Amino acid sequence: MRKNPLHTKLCDQLGIEYPIIAFTHCKDVAAAVINAGGFAVLGQTQHAPDVIDQNISWLREKVGSKPFGIDLVFPASVPASGTIDELRALIPGEQFEFVEDMKKRHEIPPWRNEPEDWNLGWLNKETPQKQLEVVLENRVPVLASGLGNPDFVLKRAHEQGVLVWGLVGKPRQAKAEIEAGVDAVIAQGYDAAGHTGKIGTFSIVPQVVEIAKESGTPVIAAGGITTGRHLAASIALGAVGVWTGTVWLTSRESDVNMHIKEKLLAAKATDTEHSACVSGFTMRTLKSKWHEEWASPSAPPPAPAPYQILLFGDIKASAFDHDLKDFMTEAAGQGVDFVDQIKPARQIVMDMADEAFEVFDDIYGDEDEDE
Ligand SMILES: Cc1cc2nc3c(=O)[nH]c(=O)nc-3n(C[C@H](O)[C@H](O)[C@H](O)COP(=O)(O)O)c2cc1C
Repeated sequence: MRKNPLHTKLCDQLGIEYPIIAFTHCKDVAAAVINAGGFAVLGQTQHAPDVIDQNISWLREKVGSKPFGIDLVFPASVPASGTIDELRALIPGEQFEFVEDMKKRHEIPPWRNEPEDWNLGWLNKETPQKQLEVVLENRVPVLASGLGNPDFVLKRAHEQGVLVWGLVGKPRQAKAEIEAGVDAVIAQGYDAAGHTGKIGTFSIVPQVVEIAKESGTPVIAAGGITTGRHLAASIALGAVGVWTGTVWLTSRESDVNMHIKEKLLAAKATDTEHSACVSGFTMRTLKSKWHEEWASPSAPPPAPAPYQILLFGDIKASAFDHDLKDFMTEAAGQGVDFVDQIKPARQIVMDMADEAFEVFDDIYGDEDEDE
């Protein structure tokens, strides 16, 4: 008889039922996925260290002894330090003027309150190190690095019993992180929401699986995965699980703005764009007026990170404060085509697993026939 195809090595290692990992910024989504038998990694790059500390305690209260992860980023090409005001003063003139003119042309009012979320971890090198201290002190089960080789933290993390995962988009990065000794590598393709390289999911996953073969490092697939069919395909490609982001944004628990949820539910893969206009790094997000503006012939190239993040953060805050739907955007992957209902996060886990089982059954026929 065939074994349960969804019970992978990752399930044994983490003590989870389904090899489905939710990346989310929303604590309620994380708790729901973990309690449904999946795994969740809470994105914390946007928060100050004391808030991260509180969020970890909150999550522990909701999930008990079940494991979870925290995601941080370690961008290399940002200034060593600098406050938001200091960095805003350094925004290059050409891009600053372009956005000032855009505000006038579209009559975009200033935001009412200082945004809570300037995406702190992306602004300088100093902040992620402070965020990291809190994560290590808390001995979270998994630390994921969404950007940057986490080699510098491996020794300390392992001494604290913290597993370290690295997210990569290129074979070269996978090789370097595997050689450094990460506990799992997330191979993410161009289809993904957020910061991605140019290699598609169907190409990068098996390439990384091949690279990881010798060391036996588990490979997790990411990028455009929103259905059970994607989950089954990822396992067939050699991944021990899937790392997913977009599919949770429209879950019932998700705290994403309702206009964004509506846009996501209606969106097709072609409604997303891979562009540097949101953060200065190439990133897949929902198309918006902001994207149109930066694609116009009169637009300068986007400013490098972190200055483009600050320019976008300014407009994002105004868009949310004043309900400027056309300027609202969010990271979204090409799998958004399949996201067309608001469902509880638990149901998303169950539907994904059920669909994957059906796919395997359709391909191989009923288990009884093999006996
Ligand atoms: C709204 C949103 C915000 C994201 N923010 C981060 C982040 O802060 N750090 C990170 O490592 N990845 C971030 N990502 C990327 C996810 O970790 C994940 O790699 C990606 O969503 C996978 O592709 P998918 O959305 O097609 O499933 C974000 C994704 C989404 C949808």
